[in-house]
Formats: sequence, C-alpha cells, structure tokens
Amino acid sequence: MSTSERMEKIVSLCKRRGFIFQSSEIYGGLNGCWDYGPLGTELKRNLKDFWWRRMVHERDDVVGMDGSILMNRQVWVASGHEGTFTDPMVDCRNCRSRFRADQLPEKNGRKQCTVCGSYDLTEPRAFNLMFKTYVGATEDESALTYLRPETAQAIFVQFKNILEVSRKKLPFGIAQVGKAFRNEINPRNFTFRSREFEQMELEYFCRPEQGLELLEYWLQERLKFYADIGIGSDLLHLHKIPPEECAHYSKGTYDIEFQFPFGVQELEGVAYRTDYDLTQHQKASGKSLEYFDEETKQHFIPHVVEPSAGVDRTVLALICAAFDEEQVTDEKGKAETRTLLRFHPRIAPIKCGIFPLLKNNERLVRQAREIVDLLRPHMMVFYDESGAIGRRYRRQDEAGTPFGVTVDFDTIGESGPAGEGTVTIRERDSMKQQRVALAEIKPFLLERIQ
Ligand code: GAP
Repeated sequence: MSTSERMEKIVSLCKRRGFIFQSSEIYGGLNGCWDYGPLGTELKRNLKDFWWRRMVHERDDVVGMDGSILMNRQVWVASGHEGTFTDPMVDCRNCRSRFRADQLPEKNGRKQCTVCGSYDLTEPRAFNLMFKTYVGATEDESALTYLRPETAQAIFVQFKNILEVSRKKLPFGIAQVGKAFRNEINPRNFTFRSREFEQMELEYFCRPEQGLELLEYWLQERLKFYADIGIGSDLLHLHKIPPEECAHYSKGTYDIEFQFPFGVQELEGVAYRTDYDLTQHQKASGKSLEYFDEETKQHFIPHVVEPSAGVDRTVLALICAAFDEEQVTDEKGKAETRTLLRFHPRIAPIKCGIFPLLKNNERLVRQAREIVDLLRPHMMVFYDESGAIGRRYRRQDEAGTPFGVTVDFDTIGESGPAGEGTVTIRERDSMKQQRVALAEIKPFLLERIQ
C-alpha cells in the first residue's frame, strides 16, 4: 500500500466510523477546522486524561490550571507574538493561490506554485498567525485582542498566583490542556495542521543551573509517555534543533517527531526557554514575577523547561500507528480483509464489546445486559446484538476495541455444566479466545486497560 493510499484509507475510516468529520460539512466545511465524532471524542478524552494523570496526578511537583482563551492584548505584545508570530507568505501572480514560502518546493533554485506550476510568485511577506477579535461592543483598536495561539502564556502570567496558592518550591510545574488557534496559511494533511487545535503544555520552573539537566529529563519522560500509549521509539524520530536554529531565548530544543504516512513531522517540542517569558511579562506588567529562595535569601526569575504537545496531532498519530489491514479467513472459509485499529487498551475509545450470541434468546440477552451493567461504571463498553457474531467482531476491530465478551449457550448452562458461568473473551489483535468466569471479567479487563 502506498503512503498516500494508506492516508486515504485512514481519512475514510475516520469519517466512516465517526472519529473525525469536516467541520460545518453540510455547508461545504471550513478549512483547517475539524469535528470529532463519538469514537474520536472518546479517543481524545482518553489521551488528555492519560496526559493529565502522568503529568499532574502522579506527581508531587506539578499542579494544573485552566486559563481563558481571550486574554489582555498586552500579554501578546509582551510575549512577542504580536510582533513576530508570523509565517512568510507568498502569492502566485498567475493563479492567485497563497502559500507558506518555506513549504513550497524549489526547482532549479526557484520556488514554484504547487497549483499551476508558475514561477511568478510575490516576494515573501510576514503574515501574523493570530486570529484577531474585539472584546465588547466597540470594534476599534482599543478593544482588539487575539484568540490565544498557545496555552503557555496563561501559565506564565498566572505564575505568581499559582506559586502562592500551591506553596510549591522550585523545581515545580504548571500544566494545562486547552484550545489554541492559528490562522495557518495552508492547513493540510488532515488534522495535522489545523487552524483550531488543542495543546497539552507543561511549564516546569527551575533554577538556572537545573535547566539543561531538566531538558534531558523531560525529553525522557515524554518518550516514556508515548511508549505507554502505544507509540514506541520505532515510530518516533528525535530531532535536536541546532543552536543556530533555536529561538534566540532557547538554550536547547528537541522536536519529537512521528513517522506519519505523509512524512516525518513534529508531534511535540521540548524546549528550555530560560527566563525569557517571565522576564518579558515582568518588564511589561511592572509586576514582580520573581521567586524568593528561602535558603539563599535570593530573589530571581526562574528558568523554564516546556514540553508542549498537540492533542490533535497525537490523536492522528495514534490512529496512523494503529491502522492495519490483514488477510483472514471467515467462519465459512472465505478470505477477507480485516481492517483494525490496534490501539493500546489504555487509550482505545471503547474497551470492550459485549455480545449475546443470539438476540432472540432472552437468557443470553439478560446475561449480556448484566455484564454491561457490571462494567459500565468502570469503562466504556458497547453492547451489540445485531448480525452474525463474526460481523460484530469486525465492527469492533475497526473501532479499535481491544476486547469482546460473548455470552453463549455454555454461559447459561445450556450446553452442559462444563462451561456454565463462563464467557468467551476475544482479544482484538490475536483474535484468540479464552473462557473466563463471570466473576473474573471485570478484574481481567481492568488489569489490561489501566
Ligand atoms: N508553547 C510552545 C508552542 O506552542 P509549538 O511548537 O508552536 O510550541 C506545540 O506548538 C505543539 O502544538 C506542536 O508540537 C504541535 O503538536 C501543536 N500544534 C502547533 N500548531 C498546530 C497546528 N496548526 N495544528 C495542530 N497542532 C499544532
């Protein structure tokens, strides 16, 4: 399968099974904006919940916050976004298409329009990626602000408040998950480059002398995180940004990249941003953002290491990593293609499908319903009684459901006492089946989805 064919199949599966739809589809869509359907929403929630668990709940040194999307315009002036958060834009004079200059292919040292092939392009000019909006009823400069292009700045401007209420000592971090908006010149590659997306960001504040060591520490933590959601190191590339390409305030940056079907692309940046952001906001606001070290009796502005990941990009990476097709033989001996998503059980949208062998047998249905009631408080399950059992398995394979519980005549004791009180648990990837006692279903599944 070619990489473009693979991507087409993934996009089509996402729509067919309700992972991701085009935003405002019935009106022709809105470029760069996407809606998550029932399965996509569960997948995204599981990812964000696991990130929060790893980064906040399982640690003593990180607390969370949830900042507003609209902030005082001065935040964006001080952070440098108003002045410099730009991409170089060029227009094709021939067909009037618009591009990001750095994404255009070059032929014989000249940039070429990817739509009509013309070389007649304008000089690149800086295009600010922030969406403008007005706060209140007056639409003039005094009311202007922006939809946040990253969640990080809310953390910097609340640093002092959170330091005081949490009573944390350096090093400690503030984590946040939320929407960000960028008016990308060329949204592309499905959800990869969107105009509205979510970020999961941690700002980990430290002493200046700890910065470089913590950069390496957080890089390793983040790689472990990806392995724990099923994106192993074989699918990732690590790119250490050469010092001359790092932002002027950064003393080191890594990009964690993923092998998407459309190429190796950034999933997350881990950056040592020194004391740049807090210093900028202290200068611009006139409010002290210093930390007082009780041991040394010194005041100083903390340095920060920032692992910043995209939710939507990671969801896309999870789907790309999980997508598979294999040739199997059905129960009648016919060869067929099985499409499946091999999600790690921890992030799979549905953890378990529950199937009575026949829908018109009251005892089978009642027993299956009881299992649904038993599991529902603990995990997302899906009850399905329609169609042949093989078809029901296939439907759940395509949704990425790692386990299926089938209630059959053994379960209800109609095939003799041997299998009474047991069900079949089918494992998605191997398709292996095993008999498990009714009382064991919950612990069996809980152990595997944590
Ligand atoms: N606070 C630092 C920051 O925002 P960034 O590299 O610009 O750094 C961090 O963004 C992450 O946000 C990226 O690695 C990516 O996963 C995600 N991201 C950025 N722009 C995006 C876009 N247009 N669409 C989807 N995700 C995006």
